[in-house]
Amino acid sequence: MRVTLTVNGVERTADVEPRTLLVHHLREVLGLTGTNVGCDTTSCGACTVHLDGQSVKSCTVLAVQAEGCEITTIEGMATDGQLHPMQVAFMENHGLQCGYCTPGMVMASTALVAEAEAEGRTLDEAAVREGLEGNLCRCTGYQNIVASVLACARGDVGNATEVQVRREEVPA
Ligand code: FES
Ligand code: FES
Repeated sequence: MRVTLTVNGVERTADVEPRTLLVHHLREVLGLTGTNVGCDTTSCGACTVHLDGQSVKSCTVLAVQAEGCEITTIEGMATDGQLHPMQVAFMENHGLQCGYCTPGMVMASTALVAEAEAEGRTLDEAAVREGLEGNLCRCTGYQNIVASVLACARGDVGNATEVQVRREEVPA
């Protein structure tokens, strides 16, 4: 079957088998390997992307079900060479360890913050933990992930000059 998706703002058309999962389509056909597969059983959230602005586990959606939809993956979060504020917040608050869960965490967290903002709710630690219940971190780094999301929700990002200095010090 032919499926056309708008992925990170670009229309992509490809032939897919009807049984192809969206995550496999993104990774194997479109080459967007930032979306990870952790379990294939809708348990871990490593495969989380945005589908028409909603956070979804892309191992639970068939590629053909997403026909005509707008998909954002972790590769689409940075704009004009600038990381998304949630990515900056994760970097500044040490919200990642091995990083395997991080793309899914960033996608789920971004949707969580956007939803709270749209509803005029202020996120607290309990709400962030509940909102990210479907995303598992094998490094058990939840404390700093929650801190990252709360920092982003407060708009408290972009303060870690230390991180940038360290990166600039790496020899070319
Ligand atoms: S790979 Fe989709 S939830 Fe784990
Ligand atoms: S940072 Fe390693 S799985 Fe979450």
